[in-house]
Amino acid sequence: MKDTLGHWKRTHRCAEVSSSDVGQEVVLMGWAQRRRDHGGLIFIDLRDRTGIVQLALDPERDPEAHGKAEDVRSEYVLAARGVVAARPEGMINTNLPTGEVEVEVRELKLLNPSKTPPFMIDEWDDSGESVRLKHRYLDLRRPALQQNLLLRHQVSNLVRNELNDAGFVEVETPVLTKSTPEGARDYLVPSRVNQGSFFALPQSPQLFKQLLMVSGFDRYYQIVKCFRDEDLRADRQPEFTQIDCELSFVDRDDVMGIMEGMIAKVFQETLDIQVTLPMARMTYAEALDRYGVDNPDLRFGMELVDLTDKVKDSGFKVFADVAKSGGLVKALNVKGGNSFSRKELDDLTEFAKLYGAKGLAWIKINENEWQSPIVKFFTDEERAAIAENTGAEIGDLLLFMADVPSVANEALGRVRGHLGQKLGLADKNEFAFVWITDFPLLEYDGEEKRHVAVHHPFTAPLEEDLALLETEPGKARAQAYDLVLNGNEIGGGSIRIHDQDLQQKMFGLLGIDAEEAEEKFGFLLDALQYGAPPHGGIAFGLDRLLMLLTGADSIRDVIAFPKTQKATCMMSEAPGEVSSRQLQELGIRLRTSGQS
Ligand code: AMO
Ligand code: AMP
Repeated sequence: MKDTLGHWKRTHRCAEVSSSDVGQEVVLMGWAQRRRDHGGLIFIDLRDRTGIVQLALDPERDPEAHGKAEDVRSEYVLAARGVVAARPEGMINTNLPTGEVEVEVRELKLLNPSKTPPFMIDEWDDSGESVRLKHRYLDLRRPALQQNLLLRHQVSNLVRNELNDAGFVEVETPVLTKSTPEGARDYLVPSRVNQGSFFALPQSPQLFKQLLMVSGFDRYYQIVKCFRDEDLRADRQPEFTQIDCELSFVDRDDVMGIMEGMIAKVFQETLDIQVTLPMARMTYAEALDRYGVDNPDLRFGMELVDLTDKVKDSGFKVFADVAKSGGLVKALNVKGGNSFSRKELDDLTEFAKLYGAKGLAWIKINENEWQSPIVKFFTDEERAAIAENTGAEIGDLLLFMADVPSVANEALGRVRGHLGQKLGLADKNEFAFVWITDFPLLEYDGEEKRHVAVHHPFTAPLEEDLALLETEPGKARAQAYDLVLNGNEIGGGSIRIHDQDLQQKMFGLLGIDAEEAEEKFGFLLDALQYGAPPHGGIAFGLDRLLMLLTGADSIRDVIAFPKTQKATCMMSEAPGEVSSRQLQELGIRLRTSGQS
């Protein structure tokens, strides 16, 4: 028999009960975490989102409540009326915020029973992720996940307050829209009313926020869902949330200044961490040179060293050939790494190959010798130059990568990041922010045989590089900036093109002809002709920011109902099939296998 709430009103949440309430009558409601029978006495840990409090049921004092407690199992929903009592000396639980008290129950209601849950609702249960995702509503009862979502709520509030105070206006933009070019595949939605036509879910509100600047909103923000059909990783979900901002009459320094203030406020209020302002800045070129990647983890050194000049005449043909043909030979000094096993070196080589490397040469700096398959190729001078430039000392391991610049940098940069993790070089409690600036405007896409925008096609070139658009567009830099935290890109943005002619020229450089530009972004090109103010903006990945704030391994842990690696929802089993009638209404026929 289920009890009803009746006229009961909850007086406290579980963990709000404290020593100052001793002697008071309270009414509590929550879930039974655990029941323990102690020769007559029954103790129940009652849990809600604030934590746990102990209920005590005495068969002598309240036989009826005690009788009901005998039926209580894990995750039953209970309501208890009782009196707060100090726990006897020796029974105090210092691990629990409510550990000095318990509630002597006078009346107990069993509001709803529960099936035996498929896993224990506590931090120590190690059931696999698939069973947790299938019963996500139960997994979300765990304190760790509850804390993550409560923090998410707090961060959204802080961001809203900061932006409201700085004169930003929150505006909603459409979800059923046209493709926005952020470089991923679109999620498409068929139109029933206009058969054969499709909406695209926004990869970002990019075009609309620029239009809001044309309309004169001056400063816009939105905490907004974005959708990208791309390969998923621990820091990527098919639907994720951006803190999306756009500002008029600003330059890069204005945007970076306002935004770093907002981020610093979030860290101060949530983790009580003072972020040093202004945040560090580094050009893209410097980031690649020193760290190999545009999202460097600055919590540790182990920088890349360019040895191209030093080995260009060496007897190791691989290095000499690469050096002479415009490639790079770069090295890393892994301090104390000469104890790496053969297997560890092979694994590192395989890791580097994931990023296009052809190999990963190594030298172990041992007491009496340099141990390496390639050391025999170097002259004494070359060895001296390698030692001097890498700072090699006994006990070290030198790693070398020779390839075209993009591969040499990225692959060795990834090896650096990987070793930083493996060797524990990065302090988990440190937060190293850096703005990466002056990205290239364009990059060459070998597959499509044309230039593509590094950020997006609306990003303005650096003014001093405008002339390069005519001569060497590949060398032009952009007024773009990313904010990187501990090796993760948490936000990116740019100053936009507000001049229609320049925007047309940009499309030309990207191989988008006038007709295609008109069809895809005609409304933006039109708007640019009606008095578009100079403007720029940025978007932060809220999920990534929270992953770093909470120390979670994946953004899944900061999203209430995340998708799996295969972009499915284990709980709702989306995506799912639809009826033939629905398809018919949409004018869609599925291709059966074998048909083309
Ligand atoms: P960008 O594409 O760099 O810029 O995206 C901004 C930020 O969004 C986060 N992010 C993601 N987070 C989780 N899962 C994903 N699949 C995912 N993709 C991106 C990242 C990233 O830094 N319209 C521009 C912004 C602008 O120019 O103002 C844009 O979307 O943290
Ligand atoms: P090999 O002469 O091919 O046996 O290579 C000798 C060593 O050089 C091996 O450890 C390879 O992994 C490494 N190696 C091969 N190609 C490259 C390259 N492009 N850059 C760095 N190391 C390489």
